[in-house]
Amino acid sequence: MKAKEYLSIMQKILHYIDEGVHVLDKNGNTIIYNESMSKLEKMATKEVMRKPFGEVFKNLNSESSTLLKALKSRVTTSDLKQTYLNKDGKEITTINTTLPIVINDEVIAVVEVAKNITKMTEMSHTILKLQNEIGKPETAKTKKIRKYNFNNIIGASSNFVDVIERAKKASKNSASVFIFGETGTGKELLAQSIHYESSRKDKPFIAQNCAALPESLLEGLLFGTSKGGFTGAVDRAGLFEQANGGTLLLDEINSMPYELQAKLLRVLQENYIRRVGGTNDIPIDVRIITTSNEPTEAILKYGKIRKDLFYRLNVIQLNVPPLRDRKDDIIMLTNMFIHKFNERLNKEILSITKEAQDALLKYDFPGNVRELENIIMSAISMSDDNERILNINHFNLLDIASNYDNSNHELGDEGIDEYLENLEKRIIEKILIEKDFNITKAAQALKIKRQTLQHKIKKFNIQ
Ligand SMILES: Nc1ncnc2c1ncn2[C@@H]1O[C@H](COP(=O)(O)OP(=O)(O)OP(=O)(O)O)[C@@H](O)[C@H]1O
Ligand SMILES: [Mg+2]
Repeated sequence: MKAKEYLSIMQKILHYIDEGVHVLDKNGNTIIYNESMSKLEKMATKEVMRKPFGEVFKNLNSESSTLLKALKSRVTTSDLKQTYLNKDGKEITTINTTLPIVINDEVIAVVEVAKNITKMTEMSHTILKLQNEIGKPETAKTKKIRKYNFNNIIGASSNFVDVIERAKKASKNSASVFIFGETGTGKELLAQSIHYESSRKDKPFIAQNCAALPESLLEGLLFGTSKGGFTGAVDRAGLFEQANGGTLLLDEINSMPYELQAKLLRVLQENYIRRVGGTNDIPIDVRIITTSNEPTEAILKYGKIRKDLFYRLNVIQLNVPPLRDRKDDIIMLTNMFIHKFNERLNKEILSITKEAQDALLKYDFPGNVRELENIIMSAISMSDDNERILNINHFNLLDIASNYDNSNHELGDEGIDEYLENLEKRIIEKILIEKDFNITKAAQALKIKRQTLQHKIKKFNIQ
């Protein structure tokens, strides 16, 4: 291929790449100054091209300019982070590599490649600043830091009581705790209760969601950054340092980037951290609680969590059952939420009808306790000020009734008779709920006699 052809290929490449490229010939005149470099430095290509570098960049000398250093002293500079003002006075942060091209022991050109990381640096600063302002990282989600302890946990179902007992035992030591539970089952509540019941209670409890941030930011946030590090220009303590002596809750650990998991494992094994870009090892003593809303078998099987890390985190495992498997708790929690929202919404609801209660007991609560809380709040807000009892009409029936339709009713092992009976039962239940268990109205809707409906209710044991 001819030199001319090479040249036009090169020009195309240089035009499209994101990195800024600036090349001087052996006399110090600019021979390449690409689009990205021009954008970065806010200099028009024609102001720079074929002109002596020293004339265009008057404020730089052979000490401060890596290009001139490479030209005069053949110095190679790799991955140097620089923050400077461009022609518009805007602060720019770049990572530069500058090197002389030497042929036959003669420098024939010097090349500078600059990567603009201004946006990344700004983003990292903004996040860290926000979190510092708010005070604690978990407040990014909850705004107010709510301190929960075991007294705030409502529940009497034996499968849930077992979990609480195990959590109480966990608060007596500092072993890592792995909490699995569907969304809204109370994982954070348990994690905070463990912390505030433990000897660490006077030290910080900090929570961080591992799914919310890209890897580089999460790393800087957890381990801190050091001057000269790539992700932040300033020295800043990470969450591990901030939580020292206390507890760090890592939410959705199954979403933590794989590379970062290896770094986390190292920290847990060695009990010290090193800030990103830093050189000092800082000893830390932090209890780690992790959560996942995907079952452990699945996250291990699909490699979402490193096995070595998992064994380190899973010293004590708490499996929080979903609310649909804790029927007793549905009633207790409902009463607690009625009390709570009476106060908040200035109502005086005393109880809930049996029918409404039954509908709640039959519902499968994909959003668990958080969803129940919302359902009760919305029902109470639908009640009139003089009402004392919540009935089925206060509830958003669409939510609850549609759940019946979603439940799986494929023809399985059972025959067609049983299948149709089940279907009939579900339809009757749904209509009964919609008609607030008024037999006459339900019978009308189903277009059957009252007596027939009563007979079916008895037969299907509908309560
Ligand atoms: N057993 C309980 N007693 C009282 N309140 C509860 C209970 N379980 C959950 N809650 C309440 O339900 C809401 C959700 O709980 P929490 O934030 O702890 O759930 P989570 O499992 O961390 O959810 P996510 O997976 O979505 O982060 C909170 O307002 C919490 O106070
Ligand atoms: Mg949570």
